[in-house]
Amino acid sequence: MTDEIDSTALARRFSSAFTWGFAASAYQIEGAAAEDGRGISIWDTFARQPGAVLNTDTGDVACDHYHRYPEDVRLMAEIGASAYRFSISWPRVMPAGTGAVNQRGLDFYQRLVDELLGAGVQPMINLFHWDLPQALQDRGGFANPEVAGWFSDYTALIASRLGDLVTDWMTFNEPAVFAFLAHAEGIHAPGIRHWPTAMRVADNQLRAHAAVVPIIRSAVPRARIGVAIDVNQAVPATDSDRDRRAADGWHATRDWWFLDPLFGRGDPKDGREPLCGAGHLEGVELTDPPPGDLDYVGLNYYRRETVSAHSDRAFDWTAEPPAGAEVTDMNWHVAPDGLTAMLAELQRRYSPKEIVVSENGAAYEDVVEPDGSIRDAARESYIRRHLAALADARDTGVPVTGYFVWSLLDNFEWSYGYTKRFGLVHVDFESKTLRRTIKQSGRWYQNLIVAAR
Ligand code: FCB
Repeated sequence: MTDEIDSTALARRFSSAFTWGFAASAYQIEGAAAEDGRGISIWDTFARQPGAVLNTDTGDVACDHYHRYPEDVRLMAEIGASAYRFSISWPRVMPAGTGAVNQRGLDFYQRLVDELLGAGVQPMINLFHWDLPQALQDRGGFANPEVAGWFSDYTALIASRLGDLVTDWMTFNEPAVFAFLAHAEGIHAPGIRHWPTAMRVADNQLRAHAAVVPIIRSAVPRARIGVAIDVNQAVPATDSDRDRRAADGWHATRDWWFLDPLFGRGDPKDGREPLCGAGHLEGVELTDPPPGDLDYVGLNYYRRETVSAHSDRAFDWTAEPPAGAEVTDMNWHVAPDGLTAMLAELQRRYSPKEIVVSENGAAYEDVVEPDGSIRDAARESYIRRHLAALADARDTGVPVTGYFVWSLLDNFEWSYGYTKRFGLVHVDFESKTLRRTIKQSGRWYQNLIVAAR
């Protein structure tokens, strides 16, 4: 797990204008699930289904960020972060998803934004990180085309309240994960296992994105609008045609499926073929969604997927780390060169105006030493190597302007509950004190940011 990258030399590879950030999402950290008029989200419901989440963990309390946000902002400022990407909990501000507004919920985000600005940390608002109001799921959720209208009303509310203070906006986080893990594989809320539904959800997210961009632009004249797409690197397990087709199919049906339409090219044909072949589009009528009008692309990158085909049938493939690969506690294959490759591929395919790495980070088990410190050398090394890989892409002209570590705090990692720690700051869930302690990786990030300025 050692690497030879010198931090001072690494810092010199970034200009002083580079954005150093943290990313997080509402349900994973806020807690206060039943407080101040918050409505129920699909994750509140899903987490209560037997077997859905390890140890029957929920986000009811999470990191209690809802109450401890001043301390969390202080921690970010201490580390030297220049930006914070967080999401708004839709049911906190509109408990039923449409109609009545919950002022106390809006006030929380106002306080958070004020606190961030006061600490010199630029807020970046992500409108949707998977915690849909349950009341909207009861009306079909993202499979219902009406969602573009619901999302528009919600966006207009947030943009009118916070638009004078916040210029950086994101519409969606990982629309592929939300569509497929939540509606085809059923392992995320709302736990549906039906591919045609998942494909409708994919399409409706793109339409909802296109619907709200002009709403944000009219409320926020200097707005910079992006969307966070998860593009991990998919490589074929062998040189066989089958494996190569499977790896290409993986990218086309997950990644280019969203990015092609966002860049005005409509649904990619090389994605349609395997999706049709597998029957995933049965009964789904697709017309090309409108383009995305993006100021920047957010890239969430974590790992390399090694794809093996089991037959010539589309989707009859699996993706897992090859034997002996270096993996994190998520069993994700650590592959920094994949980040360089995916940044280059985004540039080659789409020439976006700008890219920010909107999530990157690693889960490892942490040991709290008798003196209270957490020496997470593996996490530090992961981040260090990925930043070097990002700098390699910048050196070839890819316009990467920022990097957001996932995450500031250890938090609720979806179906894994609190068993996977991604934070540069340790949270004491065991004692229930939720005490925060900056880990070695956090101190390293702090020193790097100082050296880079
Ligand atoms: C991403 C999600 C984020 C977190 C990280 C580990 O896919 O956007 O919420 O779970 O993975």
